Parts: sequence; C-alpha cells; structure tokens
Amino acid sequence: MPTSTHVYLRFFIAMVLSSGAISVFAQKNPNYTESAVGTYQLPSPLITNQHKKVRTSSDWNGHRRNEVLQLFKENMYGQFPGPSADMHFVMQKIDSAAVGGLAISKQVRIYLTAGEKGPYIDLLLYVPANTTHPVPVFAGWNFKGNQSVSTDENILVSQTYLDFLKIKKDTLAPARGDQEKCWPIKTIIEHGYGVATAYYGDLEPDYPDGWQTGIRSTLAKSLQLKSTDWCAMGAWAWGLSRILDYLQTDKAVDAARVMVIGHSRLGKIALWAAANDTRFAAVVSNDSGEGGAALSHRNYGQNLKGMITSFPHWYISTYKDYADDINALPIDQHMLLALAAPRPLYVASATNDRWADPYGEFLGAKNAEPVYALFGKKGLGTDEMPAPDTSVGNTIRYHIRTGDHDILLFDWMQYIKFADELVK
Ligand code: GCU
Repeated sequence: MPTSTHVYLRFFIAMVLSSGAISVFAQKNPNYTESAVGTYQLPSPLITNQHKKVRTSSDWNGHRRNEVLQLFKENMYGQFPGPSADMHFVMQKIDSAAVGGLAISKQVRIYLTAGEKGPYIDLLLYVPANTTHPVPVFAGWNFKGNQSVSTDENILVSQTYLDFLKIKKDTLAPARGDQEKCWPIKTIIEHGYGVATAYYGDLEPDYPDGWQTGIRSTLAKSLQLKSTDWCAMGAWAWGLSRILDYLQTDKAVDAARVMVIGHSRLGKIALWAAANDTRFAAVVSNDSGEGGAALSHRNYGQNLKGMITSFPHWYISTYKDYADDINALPIDQHMLLALAAPRPLYVASATNDRWADPYGEFLGAKNAEPVYALFGKKGLGTDEMPAPDTSVGNTIRYHIRTGDHDILLFDWMQYIKFADELVK
C-alpha cells in the first residue's frame, strides 16, 4: 500500500506535469516589459518560397497554403497522418435524460485499431434533446478525463487519466466535476449546440517519455511513422480529427459545423488540427500562448526556448534549433492562424495571463488578416488591443477577458455568439 505521503507526492508530480507549472522553473526571468520586446521581422504568409507575391485566394489555396503547411510540418510538428485503417466505434452508454432532461449524452469508444485492446479515445458527446435536426458541435480535448467536465455520475471515469496519475480509483477521487466551470454544458446545450470532449492523454500521456506508451508507439506500424516523424502535439491534433470522424457518423450532429476548441495547450492543439483538417468549420483558441496564437518572434512571457525545454515532446526536434536563433524561424503563429482561413477564427486572452502574452496573441490574429482578406473576409477591424471583456472583429475575432488563465463562462458566451453569427 502506498503511504499517504507517497500518494500526495505522486499527485503533486502529476499535477506539476499536467499543469505546466514546471515551465515556470525552466524559463528564468521571462520578459514582461513591453519596451524590452525589441524589434523583430515576421515572415510573410503572402510571399512564396520562390519570393512571389500571393495575390488571390486561388494563389493561396492552389499553392501557398500547402507551402505554409509544409513549413509547419518541417519545422515544428512533423507529419499529420491520415486515419488508421481499422478504426471503429463502440457505443458504451447513452443517457437520454442528461442535463436535467435537456440533453442526450453519448459515450463512445473510438478504437484506433482492429479489435478492442486499444489504443482508443473515450468520447463524451452531449446534444440537445429537443431538436429534430442535426446540431453544430464544439469539440475539444479536456485536461483531466471526461468525468472532470461535469458532476454527472453517468460519465465514465477515464482509466487513462487514472493511469496518468498512477493512482488507483480508491486512493484519490478522480476529479469528478472539477473542470465543470470550464465546460458550461447546460448553457451550450440551451443555445442549441452540442459539445464533444475527450481526454487528450488517451493518445499520449503528457510527459517527455509519454510517446513510449502513446499512439506514436502503438500505432507506429499501422500509420507507418516513427515516433520522431511527428510529436505529441501532432498526435493530439490527429486525435481531434478522429473525433470528427466519429461525429460524421452521428446523425444528431451537423458534421459540416463542428468547431474545434481548446484552452491553453489544448488550444495550441486545436489550431494545428484546424490547419490540417479543413473539415473543421471554425476554430477557437483560448489562452493558447506560445506555440499557439502568440507570436514566437516576440519575446514576451513564455518563449520558444522555455517551452521546448519544459516540454521537449510537444514538437519535433527541428523546432529546438530555433531556440537560440528565433530570427531564423521561417514561420510564426500568425501563419498557423492563417491556415484556418477562410473559416471563422476566434483568439482569446486573459488580462492576468502574461505568460501567454495576450498582446502577442492579438498580434497573431491581426497578422493573419491579409490571408483572410484574400477571401474577402474581415478580420479584427482594429489595430489596437480592445478594452477588456469586449469582443472585436468579424470572421477573425478577439477578446481579452478580465482575470486569470482559464476558459470560463464569459469566454464561452463569446464563442456561442460567434458561432450563432458565423457558423450556425
Ligand atoms: C504551461 C505551458 C504553456 C501551456 C500551459 C497549459 O504554462 O508553459 O505553454 O499553454 O501550460 O497548457 O496550461
């Protein structure tokens, strides 16, 4: 039997790893002074590798988009494979009176190989109960297992999350409902949307050696990739596409209107998923920071070096080459955001979240505008950071919420309005 000290020690280590608090130890003295950011030159999304100007949406779609995607693959994420051949879905539980009768919940196991040994993704889907037509859905990973998103006792406890904590069910409560404030399911349902979520660790546990037990090992053969051909971010983003594969088969879902969403590192993942998988109708990046919506050439808060030192598994090893020479990086995150074009894109920050560089996130969105303009789509409509708690923009939107690094009801209300106007 583990002693309670052991249990707490393991719990602490797991929390440090999963919260990312470790990065604070790794990057000493992040810059939080605007005047010390200095000058930098962003690579242009609209100049091709052959130095030609991209002038039209067909130049973009026909040529430059793929170049930019390749640059991200070569320098940051590696490959993004197609679906695994023997994927199949097993319905585990349906509750037709979820959320006090407002919703139907489905729990589906997405097996990624033939048979039922795993690996798998345990998907939790809520759709409104009172509609006769398929609904648009917000889809994104959660941090602590499906049981964490609601106190609903019907939600199966994530075994993968328990494995991650290395704690047996009876030694520690499995965080049932402790992420509830980040997943306002009732509100989402009441506005006519579905919500689909799964635990990102189902694909790869989030620590440097996680690839050894994750899909970069277990699916290496069937996907014909070595673990170093891609990265943890790539594996997690790929999993979002597999969730969409299931959603396309569910008659309750309007699969042409699935919006991929994520907070923090899960927001970084959502952006890479949307870049590769144009079936996603829109993308929402909440406080995704460095490696997400924030510009890497801008040295404020977390920087590239700090991130890959703390999380070496998140990106391919080539990305590390830029740690001490950021100016040599031929891409930046505005180009990742531009890969969402012309689909609706929402970037959000929080006032106290200096680590994620709110202004850098705003500038990421701002500098994606020229690509949206090729499609006649309007961006933020301002060059200035908006006042806190004010949503600005059109097809590209932005807000900075008062408060801490988090995804809260205020944020969701903006995403619902955005979806009402642009996606529904
Ligand atoms: C850490 C990490 C960030 C990340 C965050 C999170 O703070 O440094 O890059 O976004 O964890 O995912 O919560």
